[in-house]
Amino acid sequence: MRIPVDRKSSVPLYRQIEAFLRQRILSGSLAPQTRLPATRQMASDLGVNRITVENAYAELEADGLLFPRTGSGTYVQQPAPLAPIPRREPGAPWPLWQQEIQSAGGTEPPVRPSDLLEAAGHADPIDFAGGSGDCRMFPAEEYRKVLQAVMRRDGAAALEYGEYQGYAPLRSTIAHILASQGIPAHPDNVLITAGSQQAISLVVQLLLRPGDAVVVESPTYSLVLDLLLSLGLKIVGVPADEAGMQVERLEQLLQQNHPKLIYTIPNFSNPTGACLSLARRRRLLALADRYNVPILEDDYVGDLRYGGRALPALKALDPGGGVIYVSTFSKMLMPGLRVGFLAAEGPFYESVVHYKRVNDLATSSLHQRALESYVTVGRYQAHLRRSCLIYRRRRDALTQAVARHLPAAVRMDPPQGGLFAWLRLPGDISSEILLPQACRLGVAFAPGGAFFPSGADGESFLRLNFAGHPPETIDQGVQRLGGAIKRLQLQAERSASRLNGARGRTP
Ligand SMILES: Cc1ncc(COP(=O)(O)O)c(C=O)c1O
Repeated sequence: MRIPVDRKSSVPLYRQIEAFLRQRILSGSLAPQTRLPATRQMASDLGVNRITVENAYAELEADGLLFPRTGSGTYVQQPAPLAPIPRREPGAPWPLWQQEIQSAGGTEPPVRPSDLLEAAGHADPIDFAGGSGDCRMFPAEEYRKVLQAVMRRDGAAALEYGEYQGYAPLRSTIAHILASQGIPAHPDNVLITAGSQQAISLVVQLLLRPGDAVVVESPTYSLVLDLLLSLGLKIVGVPADEAGMQVERLEQLLQQNHPKLIYTIPNFSNPTGACLSLARRRRLLALADRYNVPILEDDYVGDLRYGGRALPALKALDPGGGVIYVSTFSKMLMPGLRVGFLAAEGPFYESVVHYKRVNDLATSSLHQRALESYVTVGRYQAHLRRSCLIYRRRRDALTQAVARHLPAAVRMDPPQGGLFAWLRLPGDISSEILLPQACRLGVAFAPGGAFFPSGADGESFLRLNFAGHPPETIDQGVQRLGGAIKRLQLQAERSASRLNGARGRTP
């Protein structure tokens, strides 16, 4: 009999065996009169002591779930009729299905850099690890007025589920915004979602099955990597450089892995800030078409541009039906709205509308209406212009601070837009080791490992969110980071010279 036992668990082994058998007996998977393996046999099967099994059997016998037959063995007893379950005491073992999650590695979230920073207890912490813009710039008061006006205007209608695809006037507005960017979208091809994360999740779940391969640029957005892993997908990373995914390497990977999807962030990538060049955009589309692979284009901050020339979206270059485009109001306006959207055509669009409905019924009708009102009266465009102006200054402040405070060996290409800058550390420094040191000095960042399909590739990198802080804070934070890097370098030099000294003494 196979019983999963977790030797690292705080629950004693006999309790784990007992809980497993108890559940199987009560649920009927082990029928009454079934003979259990002899304790010696069971102990050898599970690699545990015989007494452990005897204890488990004894507990179940005491509860009337097993009975011994002299000279024959231990048998399953007909369970008594269902009795009320006693309340679980704090510290008592979880129900078996919870223990199974625990022993499968669970879903324990990794420690966040922001938590490390808080735990370090610095009096004036500076957090560069976040993923959104500056909340002090959110137009909270204006939005409050818009919400009130919408409630006055629409009353109870604003509180219904609303249309499956999303609020029609907002879909029209989005179609207009997309058209102004050269993306030919009809409101009937737009699906409003709870942020673009939901749009990405729906697309992935609809198009892929466990074990399927998906192509991403490496590095890429960490929560998409986590999503793909959680769904049991095979992640195929294509290295990226300052012009985005190295599409030249893609064809071979398509032939080898037969992926079912290509996920890409062509504008101001998270984490690198890089933009996919026009030549690569065209080649990517041609390859995806030749190998019949859909492209999922994540344009999460496309409008936050501080320099350079806007390149056409993949969706704008798509001859039709090949690209699924997702974007969001989270970064350009406020993440707490939870409004993002997807633009796609054909049978896929019909399927994803239905799939979203069975997942969540609808996206908040009230917020869609308020957002539509906010965008239509021109406030959104004004907010965007203001954000670009402020974030450009912060990007410049970061560029200067990096030159002023970090060792020359630290490399950074100033991004032309978005929220993030990507730094490469000198070869001997790991961003994972740097982080706790930096937190002690009062600054946090996102270490590079989380953004690579294979975490080890990211050791030399870190991501800084420059959009979240005013220039003076950026300067101070980078100065602290420089201090942490210098400390690590000094420690490395000291231990190298100790090692050399010790070598000198060996005969
Ligand atoms: C690249 C990228 N795509 C999508 C998202 C999801 O954002 P939201 O669900 O708030 O639209 C994020 C959030 O950080 C992101 O960085």
